[in-house]
Amino acid sequence: MSDPIHKLYETRAYPAMSHPLTDPAVTSVVALLGGLAAPHPATARILEIGCGSGLNLIPLALRWPHSRFVGIDLSGPAIATARKIAKASGASHIEFHAVDLRDFAPSGPPFDFIIAHGFLSWVPDEVKAALFAFCRRHLADAGTATISFNLEDGWRPRFPVIEKIRAIQLAGAEDVMSALTLLRSVTAPDSPDFPIIDDMLAKGAEILAFDDFGPINDPWPLDRFVQSAAAAGLLPLGDSHLCNPLPVHLNDSTLSDLLSRKTPDSAAWLLSVNAPSASTFRSVVLCRNDAPFCDRPASERVFQLAVRAGGLSLDSGQKQPFQSIVSFAPCCLPMEAMMATIPDCERSEMALRVYQGICDGSVLPRIEAVQFDPEPPERPMLNAFRWECARRGLPLVDIWHQPCSFPAGHYDVLRAMDGTRDQAGLAQFSKQRCPELDFAPWLRHLAHRGMFA
Ligand SMILES: C[S@@+](CC[C@H](N)C(=O)[O-])C[C@H]1O[C@@H](n2cnc3c(N)ncnc32)[C@H](O)[C@@H]1O
Repeated sequence: MSDPIHKLYETRAYPAMSHPLTDPAVTSVVALLGGLAAPHPATARILEIGCGSGLNLIPLALRWPHSRFVGIDLSGPAIATARKIAKASGASHIEFHAVDLRDFAPSGPPFDFIIAHGFLSWVPDEVKAALFAFCRRHLADAGTATISFNLEDGWRPRFPVIEKIRAIQLAGAEDVMSALTLLRSVTAPDSPDFPIIDDMLAKGAEILAFDDFGPINDPWPLDRFVQSAAAAGLLPLGDSHLCNPLPVHLNDSTLSDLLSRKTPDSAAWLLSVNAPSASTFRSVVLCRNDAPFCDRPASERVFQLAVRAGGLSLDSGQKQPFQSIVSFAPCCLPMEAMMATIPDCERSEMALRVYQGICDGSVLPRIEAVQFDPEPPERPMLNAFRWECARRGLPLVDIWHQPCSFPAGHYDVLRAMDGTRDQAGLAQFSKQRCPELDFAPWLRHLAHRGMFA
């Protein structure tokens, strides 16, 4: 056990949140497009390593009642909180263990999905090696591990600023925030350090203690990550942010080429399109190096997806299938159902356009459809999990697994959404408790994000 790390996580609560890039409904798409016949997350065994207080894992468990969920973390207090939130949410098919990954010996069949978000770069080298070895040993044949890590390119300019802050602290500034404020006051606004200092100030002391000023922060370049995974017998399938590693405009012939390949050499592909990036982290989906790949071309696999609109607008000049995708927004519909609404469509042409849309972020794919009413219900009511998060002042997780934090006053109004008040009653309550809140559009926004679904 690494003492500084154990001490930090035992004595301070890591800010809890969900991470959409770890959502198996999304990482399954990476597996599918990479040629892996991965299990469906609705009937799977799903493990999160370094799960903290469970805000990432519990909403997934509530979404898939027929799957089994396990969360482990070194921090006893975080695991105790996770158990309480799971109980209050009615999630009984999830277990949490306070244990060091190196001592964890799971029972039962192997895992179909392993998630390790915000873990690799923050632990000592022997735990990093243990993570890769654990995934290789405990992944099912066609299982996937989603591992995020800090990216060297993005972190490089931050380290000199971190050094300066540490020096200012040594010279007597009490805390990181006042040291940052002091450094900002003597830094020229056109200095490259300036936006970094502002970014650190925006993160706040609570996150900085774990992040920029954590006991270990060891960013890697992508090739080191790929090589370390390969040495443990793991193969990258792609980035869980599907448009992340791709050049902005892939031309049609490159796309056609990709779509016609049956089992792309994903490691080579990932490295070949790896452009220098200002991003500070990446999240990569891996599988075993002996995983069974399917032999259908990627163009056919596109029709197994469900899709929704990303940055698409309601423009009548929009080509199909984008017009159709936008017309179903904010819901996410199966590709085949979408195709049924388009007369005389050419399947290969549609597959190409959707793939291009996925690559540029205008189409957001999932492994399953999500349909819900985007209008606020007459009696707005949060489910038990969201209500418990509201009670604790934690971020609320929307239907897309995005965390949403609120100003303190809004939590009063959220807690009143227990089904006892209708919209008019809530509007009245909101006016009394939180006069600055523009209630009606806020309620519509919550409904649009599926908070009442
Ligand atoms: C930076 S936090 C990330 C938490 C969460 N995964 C997230 O991304 O929001 C790292 C987590 O890993 C846990 N951790 C660190 N070393 C560990 C180990 N050896 N075994 C299990 N958990 C560990 C910490 O207690 C902490 O909750």
